[in-house]
Order: sequence, then C-alpha cells, then structure tokens
Amino acid sequence: MDKRYYVTTPIYYVNDAPHIGHAYTTLACDALARFKRLDGYDVFFLTGTDEHGQKVEKSAEAAGVAPQIFTDRVSQNFRDLADAMDFTHDDFIRTTEPRHTQACQDIWRRLEDAGDIYLGSYAGWYAVRDEAFYAEDELKKGPDGSKIAPTGAPVEWVEEPSYFFRLSAWADRLLKFYEENPDFILPKTRRNEVVSFVKGGLMDLSISRTTFNWGVPVPGNQEHIMYVWLDALTNYMTAVGYPDRDAELYKKFWPADLHMVGKDILRFHAVYWPAFVMAAGLPAPKRVFAHGWWTNEGEKISKSLGNVIDPLELVDSYGLDQVRYFLLREVPFGNDGDFSRRAIIGRMNSDLANDYGNLAQRVLSMVHKNCEARVPAPGAFTEDDNRLLDAAKAVLGQVRSKMDLQAFHEALEAIWVVIRQSNAYVDAQAPWKLRKEDPARMNTVLYTLAETIRHLAILTQPFMPDASARILDQLVVGSGARSFAALEDGSALAAGTELPKPLGVFPRYVEDDA
Ligand code: MSP
Repeated sequence: MDKRYYVTTPIYYVNDAPHIGHAYTTLACDALARFKRLDGYDVFFLTGTDEHGQKVEKSAEAAGVAPQIFTDRVSQNFRDLADAMDFTHDDFIRTTEPRHTQACQDIWRRLEDAGDIYLGSYAGWYAVRDEAFYAEDELKKGPDGSKIAPTGAPVEWVEEPSYFFRLSAWADRLLKFYEENPDFILPKTRRNEVVSFVKGGLMDLSISRTTFNWGVPVPGNQEHIMYVWLDALTNYMTAVGYPDRDAELYKKFWPADLHMVGKDILRFHAVYWPAFVMAAGLPAPKRVFAHGWWTNEGEKISKSLGNVIDPLELVDSYGLDQVRYFLLREVPFGNDGDFSRRAIIGRMNSDLANDYGNLAQRVLSMVHKNCEARVPAPGAFTEDDNRLLDAAKAVLGQVRSKMDLQAFHEALEAIWVVIRQSNAYVDAQAPWKLRKEDPARMNTVLYTLAETIRHLAILTQPFMPDASARILDQLVVGSGARSFAALEDGSALAAGTELPKPLGVFPRYVEDDA
C-alpha cells in the first residue's frame, strides 16, 4: 500500500487579515494530515500565501507601501494564525519566493512547447476581487444597476494584449478525466456542477496581463506578467521541488492527493488546474474537495457588514480544541454552516463537557479513589464488557473510511457513538455500587472503561490534539503508543500502572449574564 499523502490548502490572498474562512480550510487539512500521520503515512501538508495580482497590488497601494513590504507583513499574519491554531504544515509557501518564479516559468514553457499557448488580445470583463474573467452572459445587475460578477464582485472592462491558454481544446479530455476519476471532485453535487459547466463548452483562457506588473514575468516577453491564478495554482508543485522532477519530494508526493478548497474557487482547481497540468504533460492531482461557507449568526460574512469572525478571538473566548471540534463537527463537511455563539456553547457543554469530558473525569476519578490510583487488573470480561471493548476497537475502521471521504462530522459522530455507549455502560454497571459488593467486578468494569477511553483519546488526537494528549497523559500512554498502530497491534493498558491525579479536560462554558 502506498502510504504517502500530500494535502494542500489554498494559498491565501494577502490583501487582508485572516478570518474564519481561512482558519476553516486549513483546519480541515490539519486534521486530515494529523490523522494520516497517526495512521502511518508519510505526510506532506502545504499551506501558504498568494501574493501577486491586482488585488494584492491595490491593497498595498491603499496601505501606502510597496507590494513586497505589504505582502511580507500580511503573510506573517497567516503564519501567526497557523501557529496559534497549532497547524502542523510541513511547508509554508509564498508566491513571491524565487523558487516559485522558477516553477511558474517552467510550466509556462511546457505549455508553450505543447502548443497550448498563443498570443492574442483580451477584451472583456474582469473582477479584481475574484481575480477572474467573466463572459458577458455570466454577469448580473447589481443594486445600483451596474454589472456584477455572479459572485457579487464588481467587474471592469479590460482590453489588452494577452496570451491565451487553449482551454477550449481541453473540454473533452477533462470530461474523460472526470469520468475515469469519479472521486476527483467531491462532494458529488459539486462534481455534477463542474461536469455540466465543462459540457457547456470552454473558452480559451487569458493567462497574462500587461496593465500592471505585480506578478511573475512571462518568459521571453517582459511586457507580460502571468495571470495570478496560473501563478497561484503552480504553488502546489513548487513546494515539492518542481521544476526539478528528480527532487525527492516531487518524486514522493506529486501528484497531490488532495487540494482542499472553498466552493468559490472550485472551478479554478477542478477545471483550469488539471488542464494546465495535463497540458504540461504532468500527472494531474487526485482530488479536489470543495467545502462550504460559514455565515455569522445567519448573516453572510463581509467586511462591509462588520461581522468578520477573527479566529484568534474565537480561540481566546472558547479554547482552541473547542473551536477545532465545533468547526469540524457542527456542519456536514461540504455544506454551508452558520456560526453562532449558542451553537458553539451548546457543543462545548453537551458533546465535550457532558459526554466526553464527564466520561474521562468520572472514570479516572473512580480509578484514582478506588483502585489506589493504578490501572486496575481486570477479571474475566462479561458480554457487556466485550460489547463496549469491541465497539471501541471498531471505531478506527469507521473513522478511517469517513476521513478518506473528508466526512469529518461523520468521523466525529462515529467516535461519539462509543462515548455515549460508554456513559450508558457506566450508568448500567454502576461501579460505585460495586466497590463494597464486588470489588473484583468493579476493577473489571473500570478497566474496560479506561481501555475504551484509551481508544477514544487516541482517535480524537487529529481533531483536539491538546485535550486528547492530556487524557492520554492521565492514562500514562507513552508518546510512542499514541499512533493508530497501538489500536491494532494488541496493545492495552497495563494493570498496575500508576496514574496521576485526574484533572478535568473539558470545562463547562458558563455564560456570563452580566
Ligand atoms: N488566493 C486564492 C486561492 C488560490 S489557491 C491556488 C483565494 N484566496 S482567499 O484568501 O480568498 O480564500 C481562501 C479560502 O478561504 C477559500 O477556500 C475560501 O473558500 C475560504 N473562505 C473565505 N471565506 C469563507 C467563509 N465565509 N467560509 C468558509 N470559507 C471561506 O481564494
């Protein structure tokens, strides 16, 4: 089995401060990267910043600084966010790095050599906010009567000399590619949208600009800079060493296993990008997953409404693991979701404090009090004990198949089924009553529970790394015994192991009514 996994986030425009949307995309990739590493994969997890183009140039201008100084500053904010959220990326790429210029120019030459680039002139609509060209019939009328893009972005008329990519010639090959790779685009509904878009016919794509110069120069023609999306998409190959196709990382990790993106940028990733890569004669990525968008208390998030959610503030208010859990659990991954204070507090108090936290806390406290703070020695397991232990053992397989489809919410739900089952088992077995009546049976019950919690805490690591580590510390599970192998190789808690005094891991969130 090929145990390598390459996952990427979009690279973020450095026109603005990071917000919940950025944190969400990277969080999903982080959970997946952590999951795969624990599952024995050699993982390469990439994120970074998209620093060229008109949008960034304009923001730098508005800030009154040179674009490079501006991008250095804003790019750092994205790194700081990644640190604050404990993201475990292996590389952070910036498109203003020399390694990236080299990669972009190389891919351009390959497209040119393949006969897929020609020089012409573009006359049409462009939306700087989306960095996208639009056909007349795609536009709508805005509230003030002016033309706007389907995304709501204002458009401007552009007329300039431009190189084109022969995208029109790629429609059939793309459709064949989608057919041969049915999971290339997920979720399925998004796949259908892309397929019907391509079936509608593709126009050649303008891939260079001449009216500003914040970008990668087109090789052989200094008048042109590369279209920012061709530049940006190429980052996924730059980071693994391209254009050096003998580079160790490139050989190991290209083609990427997963490009995680928001639904708004699916077309660039699922249509343009595989066409560019295949035209360049290189292997196309294996999957693009388009997730949904968050609203804030029911409202579209926008700067003009002043309701942008700062992920750092969320972490300050609710805690990092709590935010990570909420974002991945609340919404079926792929759908849109609504962020609300009520919803996150609800999840914190019911799923985390009442279900998971309470399970760990009451079991570990009973062990501490009644078993001399040592893992108790179990006697013969009854049918009830085995039912719980078997359920715990079966979760990894379920979570694995959910994670392979990026169904984070279902992976978590599979874990929670066993958490709730464990709580029901505690209530049914009532170990506190056994203390006097049948201490040997109490030991077996508490052992069964502690062993189940070991499974659960190993499995929740990708989602809530810190809290899971604290539970595993309390069970004295060593750092070498925290990977998923330890759930499948017959490992188990050793009776007699001395345990530290338990501490609650998921406090209840108490609303401040003041
Ligand atoms: N620079 C391009 C990507 C180039 S990738 C080769 C870009 N950058 S972005 O900063 O505008 O957006 C990055 C991601 O944030 C997208 O995946 C987008 O979907 C996501 N989100 C932005 N707002 C969002 C929400 N309100 N909710 C969820 N995600 C959203 O596009």
